[in-house]
Amino acid sequence: MSSIQVFNSVVEFQQFRKKLNGTVGFVPTMGALHQGHASLMKKATSENDQSVLSIYVNPTQFNNPTDLEKYPKTFEADLKLAAECGVCSVISPNYSEIYEDNYRYKLTESEFSKMLCGTNRPGHFDGVLTIVMKLFHIVQPNKAYFGEKDFQQLKLIEDMVKSFFMPVEIIHCKTLREESGLAMSSRNKRLTPEGLIKAAMIHKSITSKNTVADIKDLLIKNNFKIDYLEDIDGRRFIAAILEDVRLIDNVKI
Ligand code: PAF
Repeated sequence: MSSIQVFNSVVEFQQFRKKLNGTVGFVPTMGALHQGHASLMKKATSENDQSVLSIYVNPTQFNNPTDLEKYPKTFEADLKLAAECGVCSVISPNYSEIYEDNYRYKLTESEFSKMLCGTNRPGHFDGVLTIVMKLFHIVQPNKAYFGEKDFQQLKLIEDMVKSFFMPVEIIHCKTLREESGLAMSSRNKRLTPEGLIKAAMIHKSITSKNTVADIKDLLIKNNFKIDYLEDIDGRRFIAAILEDVRLIDNVKI
């Protein structure tokens, strides 16, 4: 296992970054790492000379204060997993430094970000795009790795990079799933053991031959609240709430 350097200070990380040789792979996260993140970190390590991880629970992308408060935090375990995956450094900044402007400046996309997760979470993607842009400027990666579970996020980041001529390649990584088919997510940690079993219905139903209307009925009957279930551009997207936990998934159709 390689040793890992942890930075809370952006300025100190930037000094360290200047001395990094070769290509840099970057995995941005909000911590509470699971095997899905491990697969991104391993890919970043294997495809680059150095790999960098960020752990930052970004408040500007949460429009529900309870969701932010309840976001699982497992920092020590995260560092252990990152080291096992060959990550060389971790940046975990403070709000006061990363948002020195107190979020006066933000990045907004005006079409795709308003659909799906953007419909009931106003401002969510402004927060995501703004923090990812800041982190790209700080880390200056050659490649950045994102999971397809957050497909809308991945697409928006990819288009942002293109629109602003950012010199980073966005790498798509397949969604990792539990044996039950449930997409791996940090939020799964908040489900009860019964909830974890039930949550597998999401993937099972969206990959079934049933119509969108039938899938909605089935999930509602099983105590899910449906935020959205939509087919867009050959993909089926869902956000469903179970035990107060918002779970998302998407599959090619
Ligand atoms: O997918 C996430 O964990 C977050 O949205 C990201 C990309 C790290 C930005 O905070």
